[in-house]
Amino acid sequence: MAEQFTFPKGFWWGAATSATQIEGAAKEGGKGKNIWDQWFDEEPNRFFDGVGPGTTSDFYHQYKDDIARMKNIHFNSFRLSISWSRLIPDGSGEVNQEAVDFYNNVIDEMIDKGVEPFVCLYHFDMPMAMQEMGGWENRAVAEHFGRYASICFDLFGDRVKKWFTHNEPIVPVEGGYMYDFHYPNVVDMKRAAQVGYHTLLSHVFAVKAFREKDRTGGEIGVILNLTPSYPRSSHPADLKASRIADLFFNRSFLDPTVLGEYPQELIDLLGEHGVLPDTESGDKELIKEGKVDLLGVNYYQPRRVKAKENLPNPGAPILPEWFFDHYEMPGRKMNPYRGWEIYPKGVYDIMINLRDNYGNIPSFISENGMGVQDEARFMENGMIQDDYRIEFIQDHLEWLHRAIEEGANAKGYHLWSFIDNWSWMNAYKNRYGYFSVNIDTQERTPKKSAYWITAVHKNNGFEK
Ligand code: BG6
Repeated sequence: MAEQFTFPKGFWWGAATSATQIEGAAKEGGKGKNIWDQWFDEEPNRFFDGVGPGTTSDFYHQYKDDIARMKNIHFNSFRLSISWSRLIPDGSGEVNQEAVDFYNNVIDEMIDKGVEPFVCLYHFDMPMAMQEMGGWENRAVAEHFGRYASICFDLFGDRVKKWFTHNEPIVPVEGGYMYDFHYPNVVDMKRAAQVGYHTLLSHVFAVKAFREKDRTGGEIGVILNLTPSYPRSSHPADLKASRIADLFFNRSFLDPTVLGEYPQELIDLLGEHGVLPDTESGDKELIKEGKVDLLGVNYYQPRRVKAKENLPNPGAPILPEWFFDHYEMPGRKMNPYRGWEIYPKGVYDIMINLRDNYGNIPSFISENGMGVQDEARFMENGMIQDDYRIEFIQDHLEWLHRAIEEGANAKGYHLWSFIDNWSWMNAYKNRYGYFSVNIDTQERTPKKSAYWITAVHKNNGFEK
């Protein structure tokens, strides 16, 4: 007998994107430079196939047709981000009217087509003028972010009801200050901790501004990439390794944004190694004011760890990997086209953790998806036959459904991504969209998954 997977009424169906990754028009419309424009100017060869942020997927010009596509595949919601450097080219000064017009047009068009805008304020795209002040290392930049957020609420808050301060705030900390895959590509745990801390404060300033202004029933949240941390065994040393990985990569933002405080164990660990960030008196109380209404969860793959086998080399920089080793579990299922593990039950484990330890905060899957390199090889009869993506989405939805049945407060599922897009240093290497994009012609073509998900959206679920 076929099993029915029907989702709660009003479930949010859609996809996620970000400004730098889809808009293009990096030098148009009065946009200021951000760190990606700068980095590409400095080191174009670090970007896959030498493709930079100049054009990306041209949403800036094609937004009307793209929103029509969203309607055609029955999205009821869609996440985009506002580009800080488009709206306020130097990050802290005058507002750029062309950007206001652009975002007004996009928002109005979405509402007109019945697609609710979910708007994120920061998706990795620091204005260059702010980076020159030290970026998130400088507390003043967090304050400028609060002002920018407040301007967005004033400009668009009459129509936008779902706001998110940051997307994956841990990623610029990791990429920019620990593992060399974001600008300014330094490796320094003390600076990383400072960057993480000021990023959190910037979130708090934005939440406070929102609460002071919003009178219209809007909600504010944050989008976190949660990677459940699974130990190799139940041996205490493996359990400890997994707890520490969880502290660094999940709880460092999850606890302060949902519970209003940092885990003491993380503070102790950073303190022991002399890498605690600088704080000011009154910050503890301030952080309590940043608790969110809504949590977006990006889930791609788990983190599997084991106890450290060898001590770090003397003089090696302190990194989270001082405290655990990665564990390649035999038999785990891999995405052969991206190299990431596929573990759909992770969705369930995250949601049950939120139910049990985070007050069952309203949440949704804000990104989940399957990246595929050289996806054009799967083109047949004019369409990418992405059965692997259909299976991937369906397996994750099944576990999400089960978590909901068991009381998790999950309200939606957004795929990464709507259209293929430019992914930072990986540029167009891994394709994720329901629609493929030809980056030379900017032509969009629905993949097989676009047809499959349309039926899921229409039926608010599927049968298996
Ligand atoms: C997500 C990010 O974690 O991963 C996106 O929020 C990014 O911005 C996506 O594009 C895919 O990354 P990659 O490296 O596989 O292209």
